[in-house]
Amino acid sequence: MKTLDDLFEAAAAARQKAYAPYSGFAVGAAIRAASGAIFSGTNVENAAYPVGTCAEADALAAMIAAGERQIAEILVLAESPEPVMPCGACRQRIAEFALPDAKLHSADPTGVRESIAFANLLPRPFGPRNLGLE
Ligand code: THU
Repeated sequence: MKTLDDLFEAAAAARQKAYAPYSGFAVGAAIRAASGAIFSGTNVENAAYPVGTCAEADALAAMIAAGERQIAEILVLAESPEPVMPCGACRQRIAEFALPDAKLHSADPTGVRESIAFANLLPRPFGPRNLGLE
């Protein structure tokens, strides 16, 4: 599928730029927004370890900065013994903007290993409705 290939390539290109000198774990992420536009990000670590950011958070920030608000698909790419899934904090970040049927793809450098519904990764998230919004 062309769209998925495009997402993979965007995540792979971003991952090449990872700044991960402390963990040595390079991650790339790419989001396809509702318009079809793709936004990518990579992890940016810091000598003050907790200040580092995840690839998913950076891709999301790029999407928001471009004026988009809805995630159709997100792909995470890393080299790991088992498919990498977003950390808990990033699941919450993604949930804020994920369309109800948003897909999560987990890839390694050889290709997509697993595709699941994002809703299965974070069922019943805390969200704007809890604050009386939407
Ligand atoms: N990391 C991500 O960027 N995304 C994930 O889904 C998992 C973890 C980063 C954070 C840190 O820079 C490194 O991977 C090791 O945890």
